[in-house]
Amino acid sequence: MAAKVISDKLPKIVTALPGPKAKAVIDSDKRYISPSYTRSCPLVVKSAQGAIVEDVDGNRFLDFNAGIAVCSTGHCHPDVVRAIQKQAETLIHMSGTDFYYEHMPKLAAELESLMQEGKAQDGKQWRCFFGNSGTEAIEAALKLARYHTGRWQFIAFQSSFHGRTMGALSLTSSKLAQRKGFGPLVPGVTHIPYPNVYRSSFNVLEYLEDVVFKTTVNPDEVAAIVIEPIQGEGGYIVPPPDFLSSLEKLARKHGILLIADEVQSGMGRTGKMFAFEHFDFHPDIIAIAKGIASGMPLGVTMARADIMNWKPGAHASTFGGNPVCLAAALETVRVLREKYVANAARMGEFLKPRLEKLMSKHASIGDVRGKGLMLGIEIVRDRNTKEPAPQLRDAIIEECFRRGVLILGAGPSTIRLSPPLMIDEEQAQFAVDTFSDALSKVTD
Ligand SMILES: Cc1ncc(COP(=O)(O)O)c(C=O)c1O
Repeated sequence: MAAKVISDKLPKIVTALPGPKAKAVIDSDKRYISPSYTRSCPLVVKSAQGAIVEDVDGNRFLDFNAGIAVCSTGHCHPDVVRAIQKQAETLIHMSGTDFYYEHMPKLAAELESLMQEGKAQDGKQWRCFFGNSGTEAIEAALKLARYHTGRWQFIAFQSSFHGRTMGALSLTSSKLAQRKGFGPLVPGVTHIPYPNVYRSSFNVLEYLEDVVFKTTVNPDEVAAIVIEPIQGEGGYIVPPPDFLSSLEKLARKHGILLIADEVQSGMGRTGKMFAFEHFDFHPDIIAIAKGIASGMPLGVTMARADIMNWKPGAHASTFGGNPVCLAAALETVRVLREKYVANAARMGEFLKPRLEKLMSKHASIGDVRGKGLMLGIEIVRDRNTKEPAPQLRDAIIEECFRRGVLILGAGPSTIRLSPPLMIDEEQAQFAVDTFSDALSKVTD
């Protein structure tokens, strides 16, 4: 293969990995830090700009996971950095629980206008609750759904991920390790399969209506169905086109609310501002986090105004929606709207056919799926049996790291590509070539 030209937009590996400074940090981390974190490669980050991350030894990597789908505008986008700096000089904290500041209604109004722009939401009014993370956005959604409906049960999906605090964890069912040792979890959650057309033709909605609602769960007691419109940690799984609209019909029939978890799929990642906009689907409550503030901690629970009708004291957070995070979010939304949502759609159209084309070269690619820059590549032992190949998947991730491209896994044997939404064609092509070379190397 011809040598690749290294520019500032592409990786450059200058030491063995991990390098000496990285090794020292990793040793210290092992001594002091909770072993519960799941580090997938020995990367010790020093700085980052755009889609390039530099480690403590001067190695440069192309970031195709964006800090787990967070740095939507790219690392340290100059407009976002300026907004953070300006806000930090003016007001860092006052607590929206007890006082007012203009950033809260300003961002909420922006988010409401996104709802009305994205698809016909019939001019409905929305309200926002601000927390600090995805899991908090889900906690607030669960509490609100119970409060508003007076019902106590939830329907969630197998292989979903909604966070790790007790309420969210009770919905999460992506890996046993995430739940092991923490029971009993919050009662009232029933899991049903997520529709995975690559692996199964099981009729999920028939099962919910004809089995679950007739034998196990009284639908009149279900507060909400919680769903990732495109499943993230579970393997970047896109539901069939009519699934969400049929789910909505079923929910409406029983007076059940719909909670869309857009923590990973939202804020432009799929080429539309929210993943549910790809479908005929109208959630009542939306959980947003990750990409909304370009890396500053912010979780938002958005609900139709008539549903977010809880009384003062029902829910609050000391830090949630602090002015610095909200300033970052306001700038992030502006930049996403201006150019990066469209770029995510464009780069997705660039990447997906190139990944699909690799299927003729690599028998271990079982499936390529996703929308925009939320793309999954399922790695299998055999394309006919579809037997998952988790070790091979992990070896590809490791080999990509050695070659300077950062990618992560999702589900048992899928590779996920979730780069910053500002990547260009040169970077996208580099990632495809590196992935292909890495796959050739580990299957040699
Ligand atoms: C869909 C989804 N929901 C919720 C969460 C939890 O977010 P956080 O880690 O910010 O608590 C995640 C995190 O990966 C997620 O992907």
